[in-house]
Amino acid sequence: MVRAVICLDMSLKHFLQFNDFSREEYEYLFERARWIKQEFKAYRQYWPLTDRTLAMIFDKSSTRTRLSFEAGMHQLGGAAIYLSTRDTQLGRGEPVEDAARVISRMVDLVMIRTFQHETVQHFAQYSRVPVINGLTDEYHPCQIMSDIFTYMEHRGRIEGKTVAWIGDSNNMCNTWLQAAEIFNFKVNVSTPPGYDIDPAQIGLAGSLHYEKFVSPHEAVAGVDLVTTDVWTSMGFEAEAEQRKNDFAEFCVDAEMLALAKKDALFMHCLPAHRGEEVSAEVLDGPQSVVWDEAENRLHTQKALMEYLLLGKLETAT
Ligand code: CP
Ligand code: NVA
Repeated sequence: MVRAVICLDMSLKHFLQFNDFSREEYEYLFERARWIKQEFKAYRQYWPLTDRTLAMIFDKSSTRTRLSFEAGMHQLGGAAIYLSTRDTQLGRGEPVEDAARVISRMVDLVMIRTFQHETVQHFAQYSRVPVINGLTDEYHPCQIMSDIFTYMEHRGRIEGKTVAWIGDSNNMCNTWLQAAEIFNFKVNVSTPPGYDIDPAQIGLAGSLHYEKFVSPHEAVAGVDLVTTDVWTSMGFEAEAEQRKNDFAEFCVDAEMLALAKKDALFMHCLPAHRGEEVSAEVLDGPQSVVWDEAENRLHTQKALMEYLLLGKLETAT
């Protein structure tokens, strides 16, 4: 009965890129995440997703994403199933639409980590149940949801603040740029020559929420938050040696971070490479909130799964 209600009465919602949700929806999710985190920390059982199943399809490696979704589903009373394209028929050429039709008849929710964003869009088009993007080459919306929640925990509202993005114009960078539109903050972007952002490709042509800087030091000057990511994302390993040369001037070290506001935070989605995109001093230093970002994947994604499956709920005080 419940599953039929979800299919027939609630419009099917997916979370494929950050701008799939409105600011009002994020405000709701953050309030739920705050409460879910509080209940979890107090060891109070909360099982709204009893008998619900999440399928997690991984085309790329993961520590945090797999663990936070799997543990999160378990903690909400449901179950999670890990599927790797290496050992499913998806890896042997079964069409995405066929897999979507079959998988979504057996589970209540699907999370996918893959290469091209088009693949998750294609899957969602044929899915009977909500689909979550667990990272594509283009976007990483679950991570930015956690990062903004983490910023708010430490510093309050992000509206009107400035974030410096240093390094590759990758999935994390694209998603920060989308988030800036929704939350009304600014991103100072500094990427090496040849690794420029493409705002039109991510639906942000004409955006006033970012500014490009040739010098990473100038991008960081006076900002509220400094963030970076690996120089070589998954799927780009063949370029790793070339990228080490091209990004050599783009390490966030103590000298660079000192140019930001005194109380600026440092974020990194992890895994990090100390001595490449960030120095050990910064990653392990007092301004770094990287472990909170990682933990908050759990709490924010529990709120996300609850919302996609049950809609909006009243939050008890
Ligand atoms: N930050 C993040 O998504 O980590 P994993 O690759 O370990 O999932
Ligand atoms: N940009 C990185 C993020 C890893 C969580 C990658 O795509 O590999």
